Amino acid sequence: MSDGSWWKRGVIYQVYPRSFQDSNDDGIGDLEGVRRRLDYFVWLGVDAIWLSPIFVSPMADFGYDVADYQAVDPIFGSLADFDRLLAQAHARGLRVVLDFVPNHTSIEHEWFRESRACRDNPKRDWYIWRDPAPDGGPPNNWLSNFGGPGWTRDSLTGQYYYHAFLPQQPDLNWRNPLVREAMFDVLRFWLDRGVDGFRVDVLWHLIKDEWFRDNPPNLGYDAHQAEIQRHLQVHSADQPEVHEVVAQMRGVIDAYPERVLIGEIYLPIERLVAYYGRDLSGAHLPFNFQLIQTAWNAHEIAALIRDYEEALPDGGWPNWVLGNHDQPRIGARVGKRQARVAAMLLLTLRGTPTLYYGDEICLCKVDVPPEQVQDPWEKNEPGRGLGRDPERTPMQWDASAFAGFSARAPWLPLDPDHERCNVARLSEDQGSILTLYRRLLVARRAHAGLCLGDYAQLAVAEPDVIAYERARGADRLIVVLNLGREPREVHLPQTDDRRSVMLSTFLDREGEPVGRSVSLRADEGVILRYC
Ligand code: GLC
Repeated sequence: MSDGSWWKRGVIYQVYPRSFQDSNDDGIGDLEGVRRRLDYFVWLGVDAIWLSPIFVSPMADFGYDVADYQAVDPIFGSLADFDRLLAQAHARGLRVVLDFVPNHTSIEHEWFRESRACRDNPKRDWYIWRDPAPDGGPPNNWLSNFGGPGWTRDSLTGQYYYHAFLPQQPDLNWRNPLVREAMFDVLRFWLDRGVDGFRVDVLWHLIKDEWFRDNPPNLGYDAHQAEIQRHLQVHSADQPEVHEVVAQMRGVIDAYPERVLIGEIYLPIERLVAYYGRDLSGAHLPFNFQLIQTAWNAHEIAALIRDYEEALPDGGWPNWVLGNHDQPRIGARVGKRQARVAAMLLLTLRGTPTLYYGDEICLCKVDVPPEQVQDPWEKNEPGRGLGRDPERTPMQWDASAFAGFSARAPWLPLDPDHERCNVARLSEDQGSILTLYRRLLVARRAHAGLCLGDYAQLAVAEPDVIAYERARGADRLIVVLNLGREPREVHLPQTDDRRSVMLSTFLDREGEPVGRSVSLRADEGVILRYC
């Protein structure tokens, strides 16, 4: 195996620009803010940043409703700000990945304005328009992911348009070759500016059933779930023809050297891996969200890693994610102690890890009072715990009034704990989770075994424990993680080799010799090296 492309060796860090760093004191983060923090990424030790959408948008879904794909929203800055950020990132060896939102535009996009104007507008077929059902209702039973029907009737022409998300986010018709060409031009616009790749929003949604058949009911639905779960999304997403679109997209990217295509895909493993494409002609990294969706216990997670590794196509490069702007924070899900174990897991599994901003300081769930709710999903389906504001709160840089994020109250509240939980303080603390992240990132860079090596699960008898070896040539490391609240004495497979602790999640036993067994405290993970 060669040394691998940057996106195989590297670690990606997701920035949610609204919440990273405000530079003009309007309470909302911006590109100039990200630029000022470039040295932070270098210091932390990540290789690439992925920016959630920065394009012109009415912000009905905070940038995931794009009104102009080739301009930066003034709230975030200008194209010149972006070019400066990109150049200065590249000068530091950092890659920049953009968020590409091809499934839908904003209703304010020029294409939609034209499309809705009349039935015979040349852009009519760029979106998905259908006549009402015989009773005047929506054409089929498809629901919006944010609650309510997936169809909205437009009084101008009496037809319905489809929107998998908000009514302000009409779906494009990707069966139309002109739509494909227009969107591929958008990719080229940014590739020509030098971006290093794209994270493609809801990639598995692009093609819908040709006959618009009703989705079947989900017999396991319970009333606590989001409304979209009432049906199985059999016909509204993940259609076989989508793979041809992904391959075309990949073709556009491949005309430029060393760019990456990442797909946001929430599907079970066997369907997810199809997005690598035939002969790997699809996404380089179909995002693997299984660690977010699997119960946090050693048995389930060991099985998940095995299943995922087995399902990967030949040559398909794995990837792992613990959190993003749509999912509860890992610290809130597993607790602050296990968050360290989770960090060690994420950064020692085989494949490219993507970090979510703030997880390195263990930002947890921030309670957002009802009058401060921003997320449209929470507004549509309130009180069910679906809202995404709690994981989108501002980054906490220091102990000042607004955590060094802004000079005024930010768009979402800060964690009340920000005086203790901030980068400035945790970077001084040699035992902090931030220090742990840095040490793990240093270890990944230093050890080919960790970043490019093979993965082999080790059989251990103790409950709550996962153990595996990562090896490349002579570089061999063993990772042993205790996902439980009891200390464990873990017997390692017999070998005459001598081993020592290279890193503990507690950051306090480096160099300690380890024999046939290693003792782990509750909530402790260790990396062992051979000596
Ligand atoms: C993706 C984004 C999410 C957005 C949705 C609609 O899932 O990650 O934030 O709301 O797509 O674009």
